[in-house]
Amino acid sequence: MLILGIESSCDETALSIVRDGVEILADSREFQDEIHAPFGGVVPEFAARHHAEKISILFKRTLEKANIEADKIDAIGVTNGPGLVGSLLVGFMFARGLSIGLSKPLIPVNHILAHLYMPSMIFTKEILYPHYAILISGGHTFLIRADSILNYEILAKTRDDAIGEAFDKIAFFMGLGYPGGKAIDKRALNGNCDRIVFPVTRFKEDTLDFSFSGLKTATLEMIRSKKYDGQEKDFLASFQKAAFDIVLNSVNKLNREKPLGQIVFGGGVAANSFLRDYAHSKIKDKGVKLFFPPLEYCTDNGAMVAGLAYHLLRSGKEFKAQDVFSRSDFRKTY
Ligand SMILES: Nc1ncnc2c1ncn2[C@@H]1O[C@H](COP(=O)(O)OP(=O)(O)OP(=O)(O)O)[C@@H](O)[C@H]1O
Ligand SMILES: [Mg+2]
Repeated sequence: MLILGIESSCDETALSIVRDGVEILADSREFQDEIHAPFGGVVPEFAARHHAEKISILFKRTLEKANIEADKIDAIGVTNGPGLVGSLLVGFMFARGLSIGLSKPLIPVNHILAHLYMPSMIFTKEILYPHYAILISGGHTFLIRADSILNYEILAKTRDDAIGEAFDKIAFFMGLGYPGGKAIDKRALNGNCDRIVFPVTRFKEDTLDFSFSGLKTATLEMIRSKKYDGQEKDFLASFQKAAFDIVLNSVNKLNREKPLGQIVFGGGVAANSFLRDYAHSKIKDKGVKLFFPPLEYCTDNGAMVAGLAYHLLRSGKEFKAQDVFSRSDFRKTY
């Protein structure tokens, strides 16, 4: 079964054609970093306009790459949220037009669950259910129990900023460019992550939730005070360690209390090179296996949307148009 996946929830227009939920035949993307960089964050109006300009060009390019005609597509999967409404609308209306024109089913897909499904597209045999999943992205931070590809329970979430947002803000204030996560990762390489002690949030009550606003404010104060001028590498390495400690402390606690044997990372921040090493040393329990998506599929892409759409289609669930722009409640089974 060939599924076209369309992703336009934020600032990447991304289309992909995937066979049977796993085999990526074509993957095309258009980026908007240069448009949003001067503002230090995504400008929703600009993002939507750029999606509208690029989406049909990208559709043709994706068909060419996969070397198929449009009528060979069996269904169209499209991100229905969460995301920027204007951006989502462009992708959704394009998908709906195709669905009507080609007489093929339209499958709305939750963006967060698509991120979490991505590692299973690659490690098809290795990743087992149930497992714990950590979603660390530009807009969200969740610790989730995944019981099957379509069954999830949120165990913890951020109470304020997303982890990726903290990376982007710090990078912006340091003049490192936008988006900031990749820039911080690069500049922190081989830095001494134990050099500076940053605050790591701990709640009074017994919770697995996260908070990044304290770390963000403390870091911005240190930047303003110019105390660590000239020591950028160690400064950023220490910041990264603190940010990941916030997440991994909860993961460790959960994994010790109720081990499931596997922990799957997803979302743009999972591309971080320090995290990929550090998580292995920090999560000490023997035998636990960690999975990360390939670097190019950590950030937004159409393949994860097409991949999850395949399972939704096979599950036989019908989707109603009015559900599409409600903020998807993925506590429920699809
Ligand atoms: N190597 C890296 N290290 C740390 N952060 C990174 C790295 N590469 C990308 N990021 C961060 O990942 C985020 C983008 O990821 P993603 O595309 O998954 O988020 P989004 O789609 O904007 O948000 P969401 O998925 O929550 O809706 C940005 O905050 C970016 O700075
Ligand atoms: Mg995303």
